[in-house]
Amino acid sequence: MKSEPGRGPAPPVPDTCVPESYGPVPSDTVVAIVGPAGSGKSTTARALADRLGLLYVDSGAMYRALTWAAATAGVDPGDEPALLRLLDAADLTLRPDRGEIAVFWDGRDISAAVRTPEVEALVSAVSAHASVRELMVARQRAMGRRQGVVMEGRDIGTVVFPLASAKIYLDATLEARAERRLRQHRRRGLTVDRGEVLREVESRDRRDSERAASPLRIPPDAMVVDNSTLTLDDQLEATEAAVRRQLACRRPAAGFAEGELSSRYRVAYAIFGSMGRFHGLRVVGREHADLHGCILAPNHVSNWDPPILGAAFAGKNHIRSIAKEELFRFPLSAMMYRFLYSIPIRRNIYDAAAFDRAADILARGQNLLFFPEGMRRVYGEPGPVRNGLGLLMQRTGAPTVPIYLRGTLAPQPGGGPRAPLEVSFAPAIRLHALPVLGRRLEPRALSREIGRLFEAIYRELQERSAERHPFTDWEREAAERVRAAIMSKEARTFRSRPPL
Ligand code: DC
Repeated sequence: MKSEPGRGPAPPVPDTCVPESYGPVPSDTVVAIVGPAGSGKSTTARALADRLGLLYVDSGAMYRALTWAAATAGVDPGDEPALLRLLDAADLTLRPDRGEIAVFWDGRDISAAVRTPEVEALVSAVSAHASVRELMVARQRAMGRRQGVVMEGRDIGTVVFPLASAKIYLDATLEARAERRLRQHRRRGLTVDRGEVLREVESRDRRDSERAASPLRIPPDAMVVDNSTLTLDDQLEATEAAVRRQLACRRPAAGFAEGELSSRYRVAYAIFGSMGRFHGLRVVGREHADLHGCILAPNHVSNWDPPILGAAFAGKNHIRSIAKEELFRFPLSAMMYRFLYSIPIRRNIYDAAAFDRAADILARGQNLLFFPEGMRRVYGEPGPVRNGLGLLMQRTGAPTVPIYLRGTLAPQPGGGPRAPLEVSFAPAIRLHALPVLGRRLEPRALSREIGRLFEAIYRELQERSAERHPFTDWEREAAERVRAAIMSKEARTFRSRPPL
C-alpha cells in the first residue's frame, strides 16, 4: 500500500461557501423558512422575498383556505375523502397583494376569511390528513418549479423541497414567542392573560413536534437563526446573510483545481469512462461533485453502480470507496477493490476501524464513495437510508453529494430502450444545524433525521429524472423481479439489528 494516494500531508480544502458579493439571486432560487409558532416566519419570509426578488408563498394559507372551504361547504374536517374532493376540484391561488398574500378559492377572495378564529380552530385537523398533505405538497412543488420562491411552513425544508437552495430555521425562546402572540392579540383589541398565552404556545409546540404527519423538525442542513433578542432589522440581515451563504455553498467552485491523480486511478477512470460511453451514459449536475473531501452518496441498485458512478465522475479527484468485506473474499473482486484502495466494512456490526479510515480519507481532501442504504435496494424505490451516513457526516462535517443512479440494473450497449442510464448529482448537503441539533438529539436520532432527509432527496431526484425520461414498463417490472430477493437479503444482512 506504499503508493496509496493521500499518504502525505492533507492538501488544503478550499472553502467554497464564501458569498462573493450581494449580487443577484438566481431566479429559480427556492428558500424554505421553517420554525415554531410565533418565531416570525411570515414576517421574515415576506421581507426576505422582497429583498431577494422572489415570490412569497405562505403554505399555511393553503391549509387555511381548504379549512375555510370545508367549513363553508359543511364538510367535516375529519372527512378525508370529502376534503380531497374539495381540494382536487378547486382553483386555489395565492397572489402577492401590497406586501401581503391574497388567497383566492375558485376566484373568490378569501384572504380575510382564512384568518378568523373559526378557521384557526379547525385547520390543525384538516392539515393532519396524509392525502390532503400529499396534494398540497404537489401544488407547492409546482409553484417552486415555475419560479423562485420563499416558502414558509413546517415541512417545506424536509418534505416539499428537500433540495431547497437555502433553508432557514427561525427559532426563539418560548417566552419571546409568547410575548409576540400577546402583542398580536392586543393589537387586535383582545385582552388575554400572559400565562394562558404561554401555555397555549407551549402546547402547540408539543402538538407540532409530536404529530404523525409532517411534524415540525429542524432540517439538518438548515441554518438556525435565533431571533429571541434581535430587532426585526437585525434578524432580516442575519437571515439574508444565511441565505446568501447557502447559495454560495451550492455554487460549483470556479476553477476547481484537479487533484494529483495516482496512475491506478487514471487507468480506472479510463476504463470506467469507456464503459459509460459504450452504454450511452447520461450525466446531470456533474459540477456539484467538484469538491475535495466530500462524501459521494448514491442510491444503490446494482453491482454496476460503482463503475458507472466512476464513469460519471470522470475523475478530477480520487474516489475511495467503502465496500462490504464480502467483496474482498473473491479473488477477482478483491483485486479490483484493492487496486482502488477500497476500505472493507463489516455491515452487521458497527465497524469502528472502517469509519476511522473513512474519516481520515475525507480529512485528506479525498472523496469517499459511500452507499447510504447499506445494500442494494428495490429498483425505483430508494431508501431506507441507514444510520452510518449520518454518523459519518456528524463526525467529519464533510459535505455530502446526493447522487441518483438510474438504469444500472442492466445497462445495454448504446443505452437501449429498457431504461435510460443516467447519473444525476445534486448540490452538496452540509449539516449547518449540527451545533443546535447536536445539543437536542442523540447522535443516532440525529442520524435518523439525516437519513430521512436523504430519503426525501432520492425521491426528489428520481422524480426529476422521471420528468426528463418517464419510467418505462421494463423498469417497473424490474422492481417486481428483484423485490423478494432484496427483502430476504436485507433480513440476512442486517438481521434484527437496529439500522446502522
Ligand atoms: O402558519 P399558519 O398558522 O398559517 O398555519 C396554519 C395551519 O396549517 C397550522 O395548523 C399548521 C398547518 N400547516 C401545515 O401543516 N403545513 C404547512 N406547510 C403550513 C401550515
